[in-house]
Amino acid sequence: MTTKPAASTADSNANLQRPVEVVHVNWLGRDEVEIRANWQGGKLVGLKPVQSVLCESATKALAIWMQSCLQAGQVLEGPLGQDHASMLVREVSLRLRNEFRPPYTEEEICHCRVISTAQVDRAVIAGCQSAREVAGETTASTSCGTCRPDLEAWIRFRYETR
Ligand code: FES
Repeated sequence: MTTKPAASTADSNANLQRPVEVVHVNWLGRDEVEIRANWQGGKLVGLKPVQSVLCESATKALAIWMQSCLQAGQVLEGPLGQDHASMLVREVSLRLRNEFRPPYTEEEICHCRVISTAQVDRAVIAGCQSAREVAGETTASTSCGTCRPDLEAWIRFRYETR
């Protein structure tokens, strides 16, 4: 039996030393931002939105986080808040750190009600914090219920603050 070796520190450092990285977060109908990061010698030296359509709270949260990252010379974890601005900054942070891993990757999450994963995500971003609230907003998981664990995993994923 062969096993894949765990990512080494050298691999992680190689990730950090990439000279330029661009990430794009697009919450359809809500916020959208594309951020360019620049590293020199493994240190983060530039972090700049190249395009953004953000609400005021997300703009502010992103600016505060970017300033902290530049002071630290690295991509820091996002803020711990449960609001959508914090969620957006967390997603930017996770993407820049190559750690953005949604728990469910199929396009449709509830087959009985034909509800897409994007619909569920939008409901969570808008403030639904339980499967019951998501069900009330989207009808997902209101028939056979087999999709409920996936809904719950998605909610944990968005609200998880480590
Ligand atoms: S798959 Fe969602 S209720 Fe059946």
